[in-house]
Amino acid sequence: MSEVAEPMNPYDGFKMLRDHAPVTRIEADGPWQVARHADVHAVMRDHATFSSDVSALPPEERGAPSMLFSDPPVHHRLRKLVSVAFKPSQIEKQEAQIRARCRALLDTMPTNAEVDLVQALAAPLPVMVIAEMLGVEDGDMATFKAWSDEIFSNIGEILFGTPSPESEAAAAEMNAYFLQRINHIRRHPKNHLLGQLVAVETEDGRLDDEELLSFCRLLLIAGNETTTGLITASARIFHEEPQTLAQLTQSPELSGAFVEEALRYYSPFSATVRRTTKEVELAGQTIGAGELVVPLIASANRDERVFDAPDSFMIERSPNPHLGLGFGIHFCLGAHLARLEGKIVVEQMAERYSQVALVKPEAATVGDLGGPKELAVIVS
Ligand code: HEM
Repeated sequence: MSEVAEPMNPYDGFKMLRDHAPVTRIEADGPWQVARHADVHAVMRDHATFSSDVSALPPEERGAPSMLFSDPPVHHRLRKLVSVAFKPSQIEKQEAQIRARCRALLDTMPTNAEVDLVQALAAPLPVMVIAEMLGVEDGDMATFKAWSDEIFSNIGEILFGTPSPESEAAAAEMNAYFLQRINHIRRHPKNHLLGQLVAVETEDGRLDDEELLSFCRLLLIAGNETTTGLITASARIFHEEPQTLAQLTQSPELSGAFVEEALRYYSPFSATVRRTTKEVELAGQTIGAGELVVPLIASANRDERVFDAPDSFMIERSPNPHLGLGFGIHFCLGAHLARLEGKIVVEQMAERYSQVALVKPEAATVGDLGGPKELAVIVS
């Protein structure tokens, strides 16, 4: 099994799993990984059997539940309260601002010289967008980004066991900061996302302070690294398939389809996790109750049982039933925003550059959650 656990190219490993071990344990007693599209889809669809309430911590140590890691009815209530702020009509209001932010970042990026795309664009853009939604002022942006990095770098431990002292400290500082903002907003209502969430009231009640803080943290975890990953994936595709950049320059209206195919081809949210609520059979394997299950989204999105030529990047692939933004009740709440950010980035890059080249293509990782921590490129 060792070559399956640590493949050189994760996509070779995923193919091996899909063909020979579509549902198998990662280690002797470890979580089950699920590699085929049909099975990943089945897991995401059946939230009653495959619970998102995966935390190993006792309930009293967990704090307010976050929607990503909860089941109905808690999930339903939280999602309903915040969804209004994520409707396409709300997100579209941010378009001009995101375009301006992206343009400003690209303006400062040197051409014909090596530059780290993560530092220059892929990391700051999503952080700026979320910070804006949460009403973080420009002066607080660097601190906000540092908290965000610290919390995300420790996500596995936060979820399954004990967070590091650094990430606990970052979370505590961020909570104190947002609590102050929330109190301020209660006195002086604001129109940004956090302002709307503080004010929202439906038949499901209101969000209390703990729930609001938990949602701020969730946005950082779910929305930052993933969008960074989409941007670095797009650059990698421009490097590997240079004709796609030329195609977008000529036909910017293809940018939406490019993003969809990038979400499939180099899925930035490469895997998620569930816990079984009862014994269940999946692709001929019996999984006991209470076991962790890891749907390999990046593998499902390369499944030859569903996609023709799955290892080819095809802008005009249609249909494209990828699972890059999830499926079912946890389908990405920020999908519209993620697509918009991706579209703006690839459009603006295609408008400006005739070449996007990776400096060390072999060193750029794919298949991880989010994307590489750095990506040296030369744009011209
Ligand atoms: C390219 C960027 C993104 C990708 C690939 C992505 C992918 C995903 C996926 C696969 C899920 C489902 C996880 C599961 O079922 O366990 C998810 C959920 C979620 N995403 Fe995204 N996401 C992206 C950007 C964003 C952004 C920008 C935001 C918000 C600002 C966001 C907010 C959320 C939230 C709140 C959930 C939880 C929804 C729920 O549990 O009902 N995402 N995302």
